[in-house]
Amino acid sequence: MASNNSKCWDESQLRNYDLNLEQIPRLHCDDPAVDELIAANKPVVITGSKLVESARKWDLDYLEQNMGSGDYTVFISQNHKFKYYDEKKIAKTSGFVPPTNKLDMKLPDFMKRLRKWKRGDDRMYLQQGLNNTVGPEIVKDFLKFDWDFCSGKQNKHHWGPLTSNLLLIGMEGNVTPCHYDEQQNLFAQVHGHKRCILFAPDQFECLYPHPVFHPHDRQSMVDFDEPDYNTFPKFRQVRGCETVLGPGEILYIPIYWWHHIESLMRGGHTITVNFWYKGGANTSVTYPLKDHQKVAIMRNIEKMLVEVLQDPKEVSPLLRAIVLGRYTE
Ligand code: OGA
Ligand code: FE
Repeated sequence: MASNNSKCWDESQLRNYDLNLEQIPRLHCDDPAVDELIAANKPVVITGSKLVESARKWDLDYLEQNMGSGDYTVFISQNHKFKYYDEKKIAKTSGFVPPTNKLDMKLPDFMKRLRKWKRGDDRMYLQQGLNNTVGPEIVKDFLKFDWDFCSGKQNKHHWGPLTSNLLLIGMEGNVTPCHYDEQQNLFAQVHGHKRCILFAPDQFECLYPHPVFHPHDRQSMVDFDEPDYNTFPKFRQVRGCETVLGPGEILYIPIYWWHHIESLMRGGHTITVNFWYKGGANTSVTYPLKDHQKVAIMRNIEKMLVEVLQDPKEVSPLLRAIVLGRYTE
């Protein structure tokens, strides 16, 4: 792995995976190549911006004093993985056991538990949209974000509206398993280091996403810690890219790009604020379609089939009947 300029972490803090990974380009925000990469829907680490400079003072004490008295969403996991699930899809999936617990916590309770955490205890990951319940000092810091910078990207690349800013406070070693989101993401690191492993949308077949109706929709079925190559043979061929993101750096995670994110082991806690934007309206579709547009089409067809057939088991015979011998050589 190429080294970070101010290398304040070492390889032993990274988890071990058998993956074929290149480095994500790392460019200064004034470099015109940043916008070329974004325009091409390619990931890039952007250095030197002041996007979340006003949040750099957000240590645990400051947040505890200033976040206000609202409830914050905290996920609890018995291991290091925090695999997201859609609660709305649980009822329709018999036998689904959520891999994490979701709690509402007051900030001081979260901080107290964080400070006295020891190896073997359940892990926590705070993930809360920044909203109007935060205290006035945080609102001030939030208003001082470099909104010109992110609105500039939004306008230049014809993204839709900003939908939310998620605040993530994680413990060292926490992992968000591989998934994709249906939004453009400026992922701004505030404190600590995160290793981000990304895969392009054309790696769909190698990453085996759960079916769309499943609570783990958009998540890979492959467990990176122990890949089951018998069930997921193409995972051996997956090609991706990675970076270790440090404070003040921004990772552009393009819409529909897969990402696995780990807070480095033995690095203390991590703080991230992301900026999620809707994709641009497809006013003029140009061919050939882009890989992420094909993923969107696949999702729509899959959703429609499951809805009209009522039984997910009927999807495969129907699709095979359409394709086999007719669209296959
Ligand atoms: C995201 C995301 C997870 C993390 O911002 O889309 O998946 O652990 N974040 O930072
Ligand atoms: Fe994500």
